[in-house]
Amino acid sequence: MGLHEDVGEILFTADQIDEIVKRIGDQVSRDYADKDLVMISVLKGSLIFMADLMRAITVPCSIDFLSVSSYGAGTTTTGEVRILKDLDTTLEGKDVLVVEDILDSGMTLSFLLNNLQARHPRSIRLCTLLDKPERRRVDIKADYVGVQVPDKFIVGYGLDYAEKYRNLPYIGVLKPEIYAE
Ligand code: IMP
Ligand code: MG
Repeated sequence: MGLHEDVGEILFTADQIDEIVKRIGDQVSRDYADKDLVMISVLKGSLIFMADLMRAITVPCSIDFLSVSSYGAGTTTTGEVRILKDLDTTLEGKDVLVVEDILDSGMTLSFLLNNLQARHPRSIRLCTLLDKPERRRVDIKADYVGVQVPDKFIVGYGLDYAEKYRNLPYIGVLKPEIYAE
C-alpha cells in the first residue's frame, strides 16, 4: 500500500510549507545577524525542516544534532527524557537555536532547554515548525512558530508514525484506523 492512502487530510502542501519556512528563515536571519548561531536539530522529526530552514537562513550558522528517547504513551511522565545521541560540539558562548518538528506536551523540549542551558550558551531560543497548544502540559512557548495545528496525529515532512511517513513531502493527518489497528 502507498503512503498517501493512509493520510485522511492534507493540512499543508509542500508549497505552503515552503512559505512558512521562508518566513521563519527571514526572521532568524534578521535576529541573528551579529550572533554566533548554532542550529540544533532534534532528531529525527526535525531533519527535513532543519535542512530546509538552514537554506532559508542567510547569516552564517553551524549545525549540530541530538536525539532523545521518547517516553512511552500512557505512562505518567515526569518529564524525564534521556539523551540518546549528544551534540558533537560545546555551546559555550554560542547563540543556540533549537529546531523541532512539533511542540506537543512540551515535556521533551522543557527537559532539553534546561539541559542545554546548563552548557552556558550566550542565548538559547526555540523554533518549532508545528505547535499543538491544546496538548501543552508544561509552560513552554517557542520563539519561532511555523503554524498551529489541531490535536490530531500528524505525519509527513519528517514526522512519523512508527517510523513511517517521514518522507511525505506534505503535512497531513493520519487516518485514525491506521493507528487503531
Ligand atoms: P512533546 O514532548 O510531547 O512536546 O513531544 C514532542 C515530540 O513528540 C515531537 O518531537 C514528535 O517527535 C512527537 N509528536 C508529537 N505529536 C506528534 C504528531 O502529531 N505526529 C508525530 N509525532 C508527534
Ligand atoms: Mg521529534
